[in-house]
Amino acid sequence: MELFEAIKTRRSIRRFSDRDVDDEKIRMILDAARMAPSWANLQCWRFIVIKDIQKRQTISELTYVESFFAPLGYKVNPAKKGIAEAPVLIVACALPSDSGSLWGQNYYLTDMGIACQNLMLAAHGLGLGTVFVGVFDEEQIKELLSIPENVRVVGLFPIGYPLEEKKEPPKRKPLDEIVFNENWGSV
Ligand SMILES: Cc1cc2nc3c(=O)[nH]c(=O)nc-3n(C[C@H](O)[C@H](O)[C@H](O)COP(=O)(O)O)c2cc1C
Repeated sequence: MELFEAIKTRRSIRRFSDRDVDDEKIRMILDAARMAPSWANLQCWRFIVIKDIQKRQTISELTYVESFFAPLGYKVNPAKKGIAEAPVLIVACALPSDSGSLWGQNYYLTDMGIACQNLMLAAHGLGLGTVFVGVFDEEQIKELLSIPENVRVVGLFPIGYPLEEKKEPPKRKPLDEIVFNENWGSV
């Protein structure tokens, strides 16, 4: 798939068929993630690949954070079903100590964001779907997966063949609202 087409047509996918995903495709997705740029090329990312249905089900139950979702009127994380449904779940973790922190900016999140976008675009390019799931009970997921204290869980990515076909992306702000010329606010 051509690069701009992939960027423009990628959508968050939250429903998946039970069709299996080849290990080779998962390897290609992870390989795309690891090619991302990172702070001093330190590559703070680590990825856990989960196929076990029981673990996926348990993790899907850990994606409701009441303090975040209740005020929005959500009773479940919209990605909950998809996590149990997709045959593979990638848990994206970071070692913040393997990245930079400068003037209050924690670059491990930047490193991870770039790697995760590579991951999502690679999945899309292979005809697979995924969604960045960023709301979950981190402590319980760390306990379940034996993740050490000094590691942060940044995102969950169910990977599978899409059951839903999405065309138009949710509305994006127009360029003239987000791009300034020469100085902040100058259009
Ligand atoms: C950091 C981050 C966290 C997210 N967390 C969730 C989540 O917990 N559950 C969910 O259903 N979608 C989640 N999303 C997906 C966004 O809702 C989605 O990307 C956005 O609505 C735009 O839709 P699109 O990806 O189809 O373009 C998250 C996305 C990002 C980047």
